[in-house]
Amino acid sequence: MARSHKRRGWGLRGGCLVIARLFYTCSSGDEPHGVASIFRPRAEAVKPAVDHYAVCGNPVGHSLSPRIHAAFAASTGQMMRYDRLLIPDGGFVPTIEVFFNQGGKGLNVTLPCKSDAFAWLGEARCATSAIEARAVNTIRWDGEEFWGFNTDGTGLLRDLTFHGICVADRRLLILGAGGAARGVLPELLSAKPALITLANRNMARAEEVVRDFRQRYSTPLEAVELSKVSPDFDLIINATSAALTASSRPDIDPAIIQTADCYDMVYGANARFHHWARDITRGKSLDGLGMLIEQAAEAFSIWRGVRPETISVRNLLIQA
Ligand code: ATR
Repeated sequence: MARSHKRRGWGLRGGCLVIARLFYTCSSGDEPHGVASIFRPRAEAVKPAVDHYAVCGNPVGHSLSPRIHAAFAASTGQMMRYDRLLIPDGGFVPTIEVFFNQGGKGLNVTLPCKSDAFAWLGEARCATSAIEARAVNTIRWDGEEFWGFNTDGTGLLRDLTFHGICVADRRLLILGAGGAARGVLPELLSAKPALITLANRNMARAEEVVRDFRQRYSTPLEAVELSKVSPDFDLIINATSAALTASSRPDIDPAIIQTADCYDMVYGANARFHHWARDITRGKSLDGLGMLIEQAAEAFSIWRGVRPETISVRNLLIQA
């Protein structure tokens, strides 16, 4: 359901103080339904000079999100501050409540806190993307309520499109059946591939995901054990946490990827699947940097009502 929002704020653009009154309509069809919040920032919350955002998770020291959002803010003329917020073990709720009590406007949520964010908000304050993923990667405080979104699927689809990789009518293999796979499944299923196969070591987990999503989508969806995958796919997406938890990649037969396009949702040195696949496949192989940028652009537009262009940020980070 489309919802209209009104925002009013002050901004510095080109060195001149301007009153920016932003009216925007959010019509993605992926809007949460309203209920009363449980936590509310204290009335005496500090009002920062500019709107304050952050990426929270553990670790966050390596995160490129501050650079990405600084570039978006500069290109759209938005005055905002964006920091890293380290979440100590088991400390998600107290840490983010301090952030919002200090006037914070929104958070990007990264590993391992996305399901904590979903639990904190509850289904009624989450968009469909977040409910289906059971994970939130973007929180917005609109002055009255908190809202949760998951922009990972949109980010992945936009990056695939940017690189000319089609999903419609193709046979997709997703490696992994955890939160990362759930996060991108709604968008991938909606893009009408011929088939999506979820391959996981733990078969029961993959079957549970298939059961959950089959009820809502007509796209054929099946589960298979990781060691039993056969080479019959056009696009293979690594959604496992192997690189992050074990500095490894999912162990699959190279024959499976020889003629497929490959996508690793992890980027940089951790994109072990991509580094392995690009030497083997005759298709394209990509890491998840573009997905990171595109999901950030979606979060930025949820917060600020302005969609930043992403090409210049891609160029900036690819050169870095
Ligand atoms: P995330 O939110 O990052 O997806 P998660 O929910 O813990 O994290 O899920 C991690 C996924 O990566 C799971 O599908 C896991 O497989 P199992 O369910 O079989 O454990 C997968 N995974 C992690 N390490 C892996 C490895 N070395 N090889 C293959 N799959 C791996």
